[in-house]
Amino acid sequence: MGARVAGSVLLRHLAPRMSGSAPPPPGAAAAVTRPLVAGGGEGGAAVWVRLLSTSAAAEKEEPAAQKGEAAASKENTASTVAGKVEATRAAGEGANIVESSYWGIAPSKLVNKDGVEWKWSCFRPWETYSPDTTIDLKKHHKPRVLLDKVAYWTVKSMRVPTDIFFQRRYGCRAMMLETVAAVPGMVGGMLLHLRSLRRFEHSGGWIRALLEEAENERMHLMTFMEVAKPRWYERALVLTVQGVFFNAYFLGYLLSPKLAHRIVGYLEEEAIHSYTEYLKDIEAGKIENVPAPPIAIDYWRLPADATLKDVVVVVRADEAHHRDVNHFASDVHFQGMELKDTPAPLDYH
Ligand SMILES: [Fe+2]
Ligand SMILES: [Fe+2]
Repeated sequence: MGARVAGSVLLRHLAPRMSGSAPPPPGAAAAVTRPLVAGGGEGGAAVWVRLLSTSAAAEKEEPAAQKGEAAASKENTASTVAGKVEATRAAGEGANIVESSYWGIAPSKLVNKDGVEWKWSCFRPWETYSPDTTIDLKKHHKPRVLLDKVAYWTVKSMRVPTDIFFQRRYGCRAMMLETVAAVPGMVGGMLLHLRSLRRFEHSGGWIRALLEEAENERMHLMTFMEVAKPRWYERALVLTVQGVFFNAYFLGYLLSPKLAHRIVGYLEEEAIHSYTEYLKDIEAGKIENVPAPPIAIDYWRLPADATLKDVVVVVRADEAHHRDVNHFASDVHFQGMELKDTPAPLDYH
């Protein structure tokens, strides 16, 4: 079946269901809409709008088109006003519509209920949150046993070169710190994932908890790179540190997850200290309290007039949560259990 013919066949099937009225003009694209309840912005709902262009349909054979028709019909029963508006707009644009993939992965958009398009592709409205900034920042795990002391002094010794290199350049320091901080969650999550596969057992939610932590740390980095641009030698340092730290943590986690989580717990305590110093310099006027980057405003649901200080406060709260999770994970091991024996603290912000 020719591409143009297949496209028009699919259009004939889909168009009445999409608009509920007359079929669109020749060459116009059909649109499939799907409502989605999400907590974006101030708890507002967002709408997932999937555009399916005629070019995608052109690539499909007849059975695929029939299957798509059935799915579209089912999903469309709950189409929303915003979705219809988008569909109408898409139909009006006709051939100018963005082409979807041969694989059926159509370009998708999220539209807030006020009609404003969600501009971030790296995270979705329902992944945003308001951190609990009332968390106790001073909580500290006192190193008592040898393993704790090894973890504690390992982290303390890592702080020395960091202090010498960055001194009080906290913007750069935060950025570099986050390139390291995003590693342990990914390594731990990956190893638990592999273990789950090998042993045919559940992880108790810990894989997701650790991967969530890694993603959260990476969002810290995405935020701070808007504030401080890394220079070439800082990028070179990241390469070196990542190469060493990833492998060291990987081996460390294989040998003793108890030690690995304890080290991260202490790293997070150091991160809280660094961000507290960062805040002091902002409050003293030594660092300009610039407007918060838009990505931070959306990710942490900050007010539109939020500043760098607000960002540092919420990031510091995140670090305190990571501290708790990792010390907790180490404690689980200390009690002779495995992580899967204790439900993971998911969505702990
Ligand atoms: Fe972080
Ligand atoms: Fe952290």
